[in-house]
Amino acid sequence: MVLGKKEGSLFRSSSPSSNDRSKLGLAILAGIMVGALWAYLHPHAFMSASEVSGRKIRKRDTPIAPQGGDPLVSELEKKIRMLELQVTTLRGENSEIKSALDLSNQEKKSAQQQLMASRSRVKAGKFGTVAGTTTNPEIIPDKSVNPELAQLLEKIAINREVIVGVSNKNVAPMLQVWFESIKQSGITNYLVVALDDETAKFCKDHDVPAYRKDATIPKSLAGTGDNHAISGTKFHILREFLVLGYSVLLSDVDIVYLQNPFKFLQRDCDIEAMTDGHTNATAYGYNDVFDDPKMGWSRYAHTMRIWVFNSGLFYLRPTVPSIELLDRVATRLAREKAWDQAVINEELFFPSRPGYNGLHASKRVMDRFLFMNSKLLFSDIRGDPSQYANFRPVTIHVNYHPDKYNRMLAIVDYYVKGKKDALAKFPVGSE
Ligand SMILES: *[C@@H]1O[C@H](CO)[C@@H](O)[C@H](O)[C@H]1NC(C)=O
Repeated sequence: MVLGKKEGSLFRSSSPSSNDRSKLGLAILAGIMVGALWAYLHPHAFMSASEVSGRKIRKRDTPIAPQGGDPLVSELEKKIRMLELQVTTLRGENSEIKSALDLSNQEKKSAQQQLMASRSRVKAGKFGTVAGTTTNPEIIPDKSVNPELAQLLEKIAINREVIVGVSNKNVAPMLQVWFESIKQSGITNYLVVALDDETAKFCKDHDVPAYRKDATIPKSLAGTGDNHAISGTKFHILREFLVLGYSVLLSDVDIVYLQNPFKFLQRDCDIEAMTDGHTNATAYGYNDVFDDPKMGWSRYAHTMRIWVFNSGLFYLRPTVPSIELLDRVATRLAREKAWDQAVINEELFFPSRPGYNGLHASKRVMDRFLFMNSKLLFSDIRGDPSQYANFRPVTIHVNYHPDKYNRMLAIVDYYVKGKKDALAKFPVGSE
């Protein structure tokens, strides 16, 4: 029964001519029969063949269920052994069978994935009581990736959490507003990754924790030789923090801190990020209907939309999907002329499709008022003092405006020094 099912599915998505097909079918059938006979005569050799290729998944998971345990598990194991046999047999046949071999391999892989997932099976609860988890387990920290940084973080981090700002000397004035606002908010677990000696010295002179790191392109990222590889480096640096077991709030330096962000994070997802959205709908997602009148009855196609996660302020938990995100982004930035914010969002939101496996990280949008962007501040908040007079954001990112430094100073004047007219002189947008 299993054989018949497998055989049918081998042809499902390939379309050889009928002559090829019967040749192929005969070859596979012969292969399977020889294999089955062989397996029958040598049951132990058969087991050990599957042990070898099954090792990878077993290592990552709990030991294999005892025989006679979960029926789904043993059925999947049987299926995998059968597919392995097919693969071995097909490999020996001529090249016409290549596509059948690919398909068999693919089925084997998906059966293995199902097997891994089935090992931690639970019963579904009553209606309305079931919930998946978004909180993936943290990785086991590996100090060997950067012992120097590990030592530094042991001193600075609180609850294995740290704010990280990456800076070079070109943005020193903004960096100063950034770290002064952080200090002013009573935050001590923060660190500047200094990309040049001047910045490292500047931090030292101001009693700001810094870690000197060259912005040279790591060998693994080198390739195109263009400047976009530099922004890839940022993600490479960040990776070390996560591998060391720390959660990182990555922060651009055009952000003013008004409260301690660690009091406002939810910590239930791989990534938690501020939004570029300016309304609840644009920040948190909505159903955008596309209208194509020529289709008549079916003229309305529904689409999912969300304004991007801002790559200037996001919190990553040290999990496998978070690290995978960084690797994917760094790899793409090294190879393409692309904007890191666009790349992060594409990796986060595009699902798996033919020829591509999407990243499946859990994600959360930060409260758009607490972790505010400068469009919200200058278009809504400052014009409505009656409603927002006593509202104090946690951070404000001057991401929507090019005159960043002056607006940062004005934000400090308004929220810290209490100058009520400090924001008034700026236009809503840029001119
Ligand atoms: C926007 O979302 C917040 C948080 O969910 C909610 O309190 C508020 O009422 C919403 N505002 C509007 C206009 O829907």
